[in-house]
Amino acid sequence: MINKNNTDKIKRREFLQSGASVAASVMLSGLGVTDLFAAVHTPHNTYSVPTIPTITLNNGIRMPILGYGTMTIEGSKGERCIADAISIGYRLFDTATIYGTEGVVGKEIAQSGIQREDFFVTTKLWVDDSGYDKTKKAFERSLSKLRMEYVDLYLIHRPRGDVKGSWKAMEELHKEGRIKAIGVSNFSAHQFDELISNSTVKPAVNQIETHAFFQQHKAQDALRHDSVQMEAWSPFAGGRNGLFTNKTIAAIGAKHKKTNAQISLRWLIQRGIVAIPRTSQKAHMIDNINIFDFELDESDMKTLAALDLNVTQFPEWE
Ligand SMILES: NC(=O)c1ccc[n+]([C@@H]2O[C@H](COP(=O)([O-])OP(=O)(O)OC[C@H]3O[C@@H](n4cnc5c(N)ncnc54)[C@H](OP(=O)(O)O)[C@@H]3O)[C@@H](O)[C@H]2O)c1
Repeated sequence: MINKNNTDKIKRREFLQSGASVAASVMLSGLGVTDLFAAVHTPHNTYSVPTIPTITLNNGIRMPILGYGTMTIEGSKGERCIADAISIGYRLFDTATIYGTEGVVGKEIAQSGIQREDFFVTTKLWVDDSGYDKTKKAFERSLSKLRMEYVDLYLIHRPRGDVKGSWKAMEELHKEGRIKAIGVSNFSAHQFDELISNSTVKPAVNQIETHAFFQQHKAQDALRHDSVQMEAWSPFAGGRNGLFTNKTIAAIGAKHKKTNAQISLRWLIQRGIVAIPRTSQKAHMIDNINIFDFELDESDMKTLAALDLNVTQFPEWE
C-alpha cells in the first residue's frame, strides 16, 4: 500500500529522468515472486515504483530481500537520503544504536505519510548495553529515538559481553510484541550454536559480512540448516578491493546491461540472502533497487563464485 500523501511527493519527471528503467511486472526467478511493481497514482500521473520482494522468516514475519543501510547516513544528509530512499521504494531500513541514525530513520518514516506497517525497521543492541537490564533500557531508548511502538527486527550487534542475558531480555520483548523478530549479527557457527542451546526463541536472522570477496557459503549452509535467514552487511565490501571496477563482475554486467553494483546485489538475492546496501547518492539508490528485471544464469553464478577470497575485507573490525 502506498499512501497518497507520499506518492504526491514523488515527481514523475524527476523519477523518470533519474535513469530508472522500471518494468510493469516481472518475475523474480527462484523466489517465486510476481507483481514486483505497484502502480502509484497521483492527481496528474500514473507510473510505477518497484515493490521489493519479501522472504518469510522462521517465525512467519515477512522481510524485504533488499533494504537500505544507514551506517554514516547521519544528520541533514541522513534526512535527505532516507527521504529519497523512501520515495524510490525502499521499505527496509537497517540502523543501529552505534550508527546514531535511529533518530533520522524514525523522523523520516514518521513524516513519509506511509503507514508504519509498510516499513521493516531493523536496529541493533550495541556491546556496551549487553546484559538483561541494560538491554531492556537500551531497547526503550532505541524505540523512543525511532518514534515507534515496535521494531521489526532487533539484533545483538556483536557476540560480546553477556549475550545470554541480552537474549533473555529480547525474548521477553518479543513475546510482548514489541519486537517482531529477534536475531544476531556477526555470530560464528559456534557462537550461534551456544546461543540456541540456551534459548527458547531461535534467532530469525544472522547479519554477517557477505560480498563477492567473502561469500560465506559455509555459514549460509549452516544457517539454512537451522532455518535462519542470512543477511549480508557491506554487500559491496564498502567498495574495497576494487569491487566497483572489478573486470569479472563488469563482464557479466556488460552481458546484462547492468553495473557492478547491480550484479553484486542480484547475485546475493539469487542466493536467497537479504542485502542492505548503503549509498548517499540518489542515482545509486535507483541503480541498487533496479535489479528485479534480469536474472544471472548458472555460468554467471559460477564465475562470481570464483571471486571468493574467503576472507574479511574489514580486518580492523575483527
Ligand atoms: N552488522 C554489522 O556489523 C554491520 C557492519 C557493517 C555494515 N552494516 C550494515 O550494512 C550496510 C552496508 O554496508 P556498508 O555501509 O559498509 O557498505 P556497502 O553498502 O558495501 O558499500 C557502501 C559504498 O558503496 C558505494 N555505493 C553504493 N551504491 C553504489 C552504486 N550503485 N554504484 C557505485 N557505488 C555505490 C557507496 O558510495 P556512495 O554513497 O557514493 O553511493 C559507499 O561508498 C551499512 O550501512 C549497515 O547498515 C552492518
